[in-house]
Amino acid sequence: MNILLLGSGGREHALAWKMSQSHHCDQLLIAPGNPGTAQFGKNIPVGVNDFEAIRTICLEEKIGMLVVGPEDPLVNGVYDFFQNHQDLQHITVVAPSAEAAQLEGSKAFSKKFMQRQGIPTAAYAEFTKDEFEAGKAYIAAHSLPVVLKADGLAAGKGVIIAQTTQEALASFEEMIIHQQFGAASSKVVVEEFLHGIEVSVFVLTDGKDYQIIGHAKDYKRIGEGDTGLNTGGMGCVSPVPFMDAAFMEKVTKKIIEPTVAGLDKENLIYHGFIFFGLMNMGGEPWVIEYNCRMGDPETEVVMPLLDTDLVSLFAAMDNGTLADVNINFDPRCCATVMAVSGGYPGDYQKGIPITGLAELNAQKGAETLVFHAGTKFASDRLETNGGRVLAVSSYGNSLTEAVQKSKAVLEKIDFEGMYFRRDIGYEFPS
Ligand code: AMP
Ligand code: GLY
Repeated sequence: MNILLLGSGGREHALAWKMSQSHHCDQLLIAPGNPGTAQFGKNIPVGVNDFEAIRTICLEEKIGMLVVGPEDPLVNGVYDFFQNHQDLQHITVVAPSAEAAQLEGSKAFSKKFMQRQGIPTAAYAEFTKDEFEAGKAYIAAHSLPVVLKADGLAAGKGVIIAQTTQEALASFEEMIIHQQFGAASSKVVVEEFLHGIEVSVFVLTDGKDYQIIGHAKDYKRIGEGDTGLNTGGMGCVSPVPFMDAAFMEKVTKKIIEPTVAGLDKENLIYHGFIFFGLMNMGGEPWVIEYNCRMGDPETEVVMPLLDTDLVSLFAAMDNGTLADVNINFDPRCCATVMAVSGGYPGDYQKGIPITGLAELNAQKGAETLVFHAGTKFASDRLETNGGRVLAVSSYGNSLTEAVQKSKAVLEKIDFEGMYFRRDIGYEFPS
């Protein structure tokens, strides 16, 4: 079967690496891809939201399966587009419907869904511009810190954790009156701050059955010791020591099962990944957010640890046999450390040459896999092309060993301004 993967980051490089190992995968195409994905398939210069161009590729290249990396095409209805075109209906699409993708596309939608399904999540209220005064009063009376979230997609930047009421009120005004995040903040969710350790859990579902395909802990802050600005993610480790059988049982019973049952009850069509962003508060899991896709950089540790054939899993999801599949995991640990551009997550330069990568491609069986997150080839040299540039994933017998291996490889790679956190996995010494 020929497979088309949408996206161009480290997540997509990891998915391409994994899917290309399947004997079901004849040819892999990636739109638009990056120099890393090109090691495993053919990159096609088409954007992830250009559905008509994607349709043309599918027909010309006899695509049998579409796998979607980022959230934008999901929320924009790529699943529905394929269902609505007769010539695309035979293609297995790994994606939720646009309606179900509101679980990520609208914070207010996902909070209401969780309330209806009795899924533990922070108490909240939502406000539009017309309710500005009521919102201010709600915030003024709220405990601190207080969390403000733009309702819509804001490229991972729409969440503000305010430590003082004054800061919260200023942010609220910025979001709702001055449209800080454009239409995404025309509605704002105000919610309680949850104290604890975050963990991401990944499930593949057909809307009735599901399989847990992995979990990871992401390090979101730019600075060591979890300080400084939020980023897209500076590194990940898996498995997470506190994700033992007892905690996983709670996650399954209190969160995953009611979520999947809720999709079914509410007729939300879903054939894809659910990313549960969870908080472990004193041994109890709470949902911070849903995403309808894999995480980045979580995918860069989840895929290396998933032994089961991913393309077979997608096929099982499509033909209603997901419940019968056995999922096998690599018994080792995996860690990824992200190399980012100087200045990230603020302003940074692109087009800086990257050296030291020559023999370090993501090969099957390798102890360390270098996934490209934001790179491009220009004049035959590899250059930086984003804030997050490379995700270096390593296997190890412990998390510490895995992180050490990635750091050792990163010491050999260089581009001007390159920065990475040296303390990924610091809470879990071994
Ligand atoms: P989100 O876009 O919902 O993932 O939020 C971004 C980040 O903000 C999360 O990964 C958390 O680190 C943090 N966050 C969001 N909501 C809460 C909350 N209610 N309590 C504590 N931290 C939160
Ligand atoms: N690493 C967090 C995310 O992908 O949203």
